[in-house]
Amino acid sequence: MTEIKGREIKPLEESISRIGELSEKAPELVGVPTGVEGLDELFFVVEWAKRGKPKKKPLGGIPLRSVINITGVADTGKTLMAEQFAVKQASLGYPVIYVTVESPGPFVASSLKYRAKAMGVDESKVDENVVIIDAASHSVLRDDLPTLFATLAHAIKTFKTKSVVVDSVTGLYEAKEMLARSVVRSIFNFLKKWYQTGLLISQKRSGHEELSAEAAGGYAVAHIVDGTIVVSKELITTQRQANLYGKPIGELVRLFRIDGCRLCGHDTKLRFLEITEEGLVKIGPPVGQK
Ligand SMILES: Nc1ncnc2c1ncn2[C@@H]1O[C@H](COP(=O)(O)OP(=O)(O)OP(=O)(O)O)[C@@H](O)[C@H]1O
Ligand SMILES: [Mg+2]
Repeated sequence: MTEIKGREIKPLEESISRIGELSEKAPELVGVPTGVEGLDELFFVVEWAKRGKPKKKPLGGIPLRSVINITGVADTGKTLMAEQFAVKQASLGYPVIYVTVESPGPFVASSLKYRAKAMGVDESKVDENVVIIDAASHSVLRDDLPTLFATLAHAIKTFKTKSVVVDSVTGLYEAKEMLARSVVRSIFNFLKKWYQTGLLISQKRSGHEELSAEAAGGYAVAHIVDGTIVVSKELITTQRQANLYGKPIGELVRLFRIDGCRLCGHDTKLRFLEITEEGLVKIGPPVGQK
């Protein structure tokens, strides 16, 4: 007991640990493949050979048990990336939860099947390993976080899932934006507690500046999650833009940048994001590279 401002207060002993004890609990730094071509190599670790120089080794995906936020305006490929991630995990035999907040469950199911076909993944893998939680059709899951968490916990235990996708977290704080941080923090803590790798999608209003730190989810959400990916799009209307992007006036370019990841090294360049004719997101070369 310690007396503070005249009050006897009991310390919260379980919050204190030596680094040695915590290191044992820390997850191994390995990559979780995303199914998005060109993305997995952008995360890396640095290894030191004996008396050698440090060497970059690609992680091959987002860090295991990280919570990554993908944010951007409409039509920038966020949902496609979320679906590709789920399909990839399913193809590897890892059960994954897809919380849909925008599009009702049956639509997401057919979209995931389409994505599987485009990725050359056996439909049966998706049928078996992707578990959809339909928060679009069940408003209580959007309006009451404890119900969402109880439902998620039940699904995680039942299907022994390794990762959770939420498309989008924005739909969980619709019309109460001042709660964005606390909603995202609760989800972050929940996913950590249940040892899940998390992919959160958040929508950016066009009012937030494109590709800036503020753009990273707006509402300072970027400070809570482990890493942020920002996507945007630009219509080329000036010669300056045409020169910068090496594309003709009138063309639409989509852009991608990893805005931070506190668990490992990562690429920091502004890159082209492509959506192929089959409807798959691919990460392209850096802008300005010939
Ligand atoms: N099969 C396809 N073939 C070609 N383009 C496609 C296909 N499927 C989707 N797209 C394109 O990809 C775009 C991005 O789709 P996506 O749903 O991922 O956007 P989003 O970033 O999630 O947008 P929102 O914030 O509105 O949810 C679509 O608007 C469409 O132009
Ligand atoms: Mg979407």
